This record gives sequence, C-alpha cells and structure tokens, in this order.
Amino acid sequence: MTGRRATGSLSERKATCRAGSNIAFIKYWGVADGAEDLNIPLNNSISMTLADAHTTTTVAWNDSACLPGDTVVIDGVQLEGAPAERVVAHLDRLRALAGVSDRARVVSNNNFPMASGIASSASGFAALTVAGAAALGLRLDATRLSAVARQGSGSASRSLFGGFVEWEQGWEREVSVSNSLLDSRSVAHQIHDDEHWALRDVIAIVSTGAKRVSSSGGHRLAATSPFSAARTASVGAWLDTVRRAIAARDFSLLGPVLEADALAMHAVMMTSAPSLLYWQPGTLEVLQAVRAWREEEGVPVYFTIDAGPNVHLMCEADAAAEVERRVGALPAVQRVLTSGPGTGPQLLDGHLF
Ligand code: DP6
Repeated sequence: MTGRRATGSLSERKATCRAGSNIAFIKYWGVADGAEDLNIPLNNSISMTLADAHTTTTVAWNDSACLPGDTVVIDGVQLEGAPAERVVAHLDRLRALAGVSDRARVVSNNNFPMASGIASSASGFAALTVAGAAALGLRLDATRLSAVARQGSGSASRSLFGGFVEWEQGWEREVSVSNSLLDSRSVAHQIHDDEHWALRDVIAIVSTGAKRVSSSGGHRLAATSPFSAARTASVGAWLDTVRRAIAARDFSLLGPVLEADALAMHAVMMTSAPSLLYWQPGTLEVLQAVRAWREEEGVPVYFTIDAGPNVHLMCEADAAAEVERRVGALPAVQRVLTSGPGTGPQLLDGHLF
C-alpha cells in the first residue's frame, strides 16, 4: 500500500483508495457459531485479487456540525435502508478506532456492474476501510486493516492484499490485541504476489438480476445444512492442494479442487433451511459447456461460482482468448469480463469529489 497523506481543508480530511475484488478458489461460506457479528468464517479461504474489477472510494470526514449524518453514494446512487446501515456500521468502527464522532461523505464507483457476480462487497469494504482509516490518520498496517475490513464484509479481508491470498479462520489462536476491532486472529495474508502466476478469471454473465438472499444472510444459514460439516471436513485437504498448486503454478492440480469446492458450497446452499438456489438455467449451460470443452477437446479451463448465477471460468493467460471466444458464443451468456491477478489497495492522489 502506498503511504500518501490524507488531504483536504482543516475541518475536512479526505482520502481515496482503489481496491480490487477477488475470486475465491476455496470459499468462505458460513460463519463460526457465536462469532456471527465478527464474520469469523468456518474455514480458511484462498483467493486471487482481481486487477480489472475494482472499486474506487473517496471518504471525507467532517465534524458533525458541518455534516449532520453520513452520506454514501455508490455508482451515482445514494444508499438508503439496510445497505446504508451496513456502511454506517463500518464507519462507526473507524470512528471508534479514531475516537471521533465526525460524519463521513462516501462516494464510491465500481468499474464493473454490481450485479455481475463479482464481489463488490469485497472491493467496496476494502477500499472504504483503507480510505476511511487514511483520512482519519489511523496508522494501521495491512493486517490490522484486514481485520477491520473483515467485519464489514468477510471477503474484503482478502482484498487488503494483492496476488494470491489466504484468510485464516484463526479463531482458536490467542487474542493478540485487546481492542476487539483490531483483533487480528482472523485476517488474510499474501501467499504470492500478483506477478507469480498469470491466471485469468473469465466471468460469464448469465443474469444481472439482484439476488434474493445476500451472502450475509446465507452465511448464517450454512449451519442448517447437513452438508456443511462434510464440506468443512474436506476443506483442509483442498486448502493444502490449492497452496501447492499455486506455489508450483500447476493448473491441472488447481482446477479440479476449484470445481469441487464451488460445487460443495452450492450443495450446502441448496440444502440449507431455507434452501438457497442461486443457479439459473444459463449457469448449468455454462458448467456443461466447460466440462465438454475440457473433457472432449482438451481446453484447459475449470469453473467456480460465487453466491449468484454467473460462472467464473479460470484458465491460464495463454488459453484466455479461446475461453472468452467459446463462452461468449453460448446463447445464455450476456456478457464476458476478464481479469488477471492484481495488486493490493492503492491510495490515490485524485479524489472523486
Ligand atoms: C460465495 O464476503 O460477500 O463469494 O461477509 O456477508 O459480506 P459478507 O459475505 P461475502 O461472502 C462471500 C461469499 C462467496 C465466497 C468467497 O468469496 O469466499
């Protein structure tokens, strides 16, 4: 992360951050019992931070005499209701850390459509945490920022780092600091930087409708599935395989595990009470096509899916053009977005207002 100073007038302190989203190879699905409000996951997860799917956020703090309340505008729309409350709760965390009662003006832009199945909460809460903390003059390293970002959105803890990242469940370890906001037992760290391996995430958008159950709601339902314990029992070995596959840049070792955990996570979703069925007919069309291309024609591509209907096709850079061409020609696919690995959050000199 770059170390530029916050700017603005004496009463206004402002900073801007750009953070990449991420795609998980081993997923975060389900929060640990009793730690729901802290977003402590059931298992470690491993992801790649995305270069070409990012959020840019400017946060300006003013004393409450100048600004009566927080305002949050994302992609030109002012947030209201529960989504606004979720951001305000995160601003409260930053206010508590700095010991201030200032109000914030937050403006945030995504360079990808929010309903595209790319996790805007990951890049959004990472950028909000870094910009908000910088503008308050809080001197927190990336690990502490990861702990704070996690409480806004679990997957945001991973977007505090570039390249290939592991988020430790960590809850069994000793408490490292007394301030629970900064409790960094459950934080992410970088395993390899963005130059390590030229992987591509080719995202096949089959639906842009808003999902009916958010990830946050789903994490609390995971425990109701009889398959959740079975999935977490398998995850230890999968994590180990993914770490080895990334270290050795071994795509044929990585691919099958990607698919196994995505399908295991969706099995948990489908069998929770109430059941969550994120797939659309177009989802299955893409999954079947990926399997056929690989098994019948030898195209080196595997899929993963987040909490939505869109499919992430993972391949190495030299196969990306072929994968884009094939997936773009499927009738169910409305749009294709591709990203490679990106860096961690960057503080920018230019502000959005
Ligand atoms: C399926 O991090 O979006 O993308 O903590 O409630 O914001 P909240 O959930 P979120 O969950 C991500 C779920 C996932 C898998 C993953 O990215 O690991």
